[in-house]
Amino acid sequence: MTNRNLENKNILLAVSGSIAAYKAVDVASQLIKQGANVNVAMTEAATKFITPFTFKTLTGNVPFLDMWDINTPSKERHIELAHSADLMIIAPATASTIASLAYGLADDSVSLCALSTEAPRLIAPAMDHQMWNNSATQTNINKLKARGDIIIGPDYGRLASGDFGLGRLSSTEEIVSETKARAGKMYGDLAGKHIVITAGGTREPMDPVRFLGNRSSGKMGYAVAEAARDRGSDVTLISSVSRPLIKGVNIINAETTAEMFQKVQEATKNADALIMAAAVSDFRFKDINKNKIKNKDKDMDVSLTPNPDIIASIKGDIIKIAFAAEINDMEKFALQKLKSKKVDFIIANDVSNPAIGFNSDNNKVVIFSNTGDQINLPLMPKIDVGHEILNSLKKRF
Ligand code: PMT
Repeated sequence: MTNRNLENKNILLAVSGSIAAYKAVDVASQLIKQGANVNVAMTEAATKFITPFTFKTLTGNVPFLDMWDINTPSKERHIELAHSADLMIIAPATASTIASLAYGLADDSVSLCALSTEAPRLIAPAMDHQMWNNSATQTNINKLKARGDIIIGPDYGRLASGDFGLGRLSSTEEIVSETKARAGKMYGDLAGKHIVITAGGTREPMDPVRFLGNRSSGKMGYAVAEAARDRGSDVTLISSVSRPLIKGVNIINAETTAEMFQKVQEATKNADALIMAAAVSDFRFKDINKNKIKNKDKDMDVSLTPNPDIIASIKGDIIKIAFAAEINDMEKFALQKLKSKKVDFIIANDVSNPAIGFNSDNNKVVIFSNTGDQINLPLMPKIDVGHEILNSLKKRF
């Protein structure tokens, strides 16, 4: 995978004493898969739920447990970990740990590291819902937010007590996604740029239950959005489909071409680039029936009228990237669209091939630029196609 924004980043994962401590193992594992170097600090209570040896085996680093350990090498361990951290994640953070952080206490390995680090802190609380809702905890959380800490969750669901409520540790995906979003803002090569991206197939209603649509799943557009987020851009994703949310991405729903047209117009007013991966319907029904059309056992004629071309309508100081979904003569049609839509790049893909087109996890594209360059990319995951597109875009900034 290209452009992993956690690659070689030092992440200090602090674990406090909650039943959710076992989930921190998965968080550590996913961070390592993203190329991060993970050090773990554990409170004594955390060691009752999960063993330090698990983290040592997984991360290759000895967890920091005891601030009074006489065998610690010369430099104090908490100082070394706190200073070398690019990001600190506290997951799970118990009510007690949250209170320590809010009051600046430093009486265990986790609070000691948290007070000593200048790295951004991401805090994922986990506790019973009554503890979470207690005004003492809420006051502490608000203090931490006001100081710039990022609070992830907690989620609603079944808790260890058997009750349902807010207090579950957020999912590993959410914690890692938030970590990547934060790393993007800190180190991303597209930080400070606002990129508008579209995804999914538009739906043109015929009556209240039927529509004219296409097979776009939104995977390509969402992948470009995630790649742009990881590289630090402010991302507005205008989508006709519902997919799992991407942390740090502003997602706006637009079902019809008319809605997408309007949302793209608004969002691009202060944007640096527009990337249209959405499969936009070229036509809509001339008349939309107010009621469901009944089966009358006879032929029916419908009248279609052309939709406006969204990307061609966007003018001004903005870099425009369109996709071309073709099933034959890909290069010829893509180059025609590059010119007629007056875009900077066109990303051509063959949608007749189920392995790379609609709804697949991979794509194989050719990037044509308006200066005559052509990049033929091999088959790769859509997130990597996203990064390749952004590499071309970056050269124009
Ligand atoms: O969503 P997935 O399942 O992952 O599938 C990805 C994809 C195949 C949809 C994607 O890779 C892709 O090719 N998207 C463009 C689909 C398309 O509408 O292509 P087109 O050749 O019809 O349109 C050319 C470009 O003009 C596109 O960028 C389109 O968004 C834009 N357009 C089209 C019509 C219109 N009225 N306004 C537009 O802006």
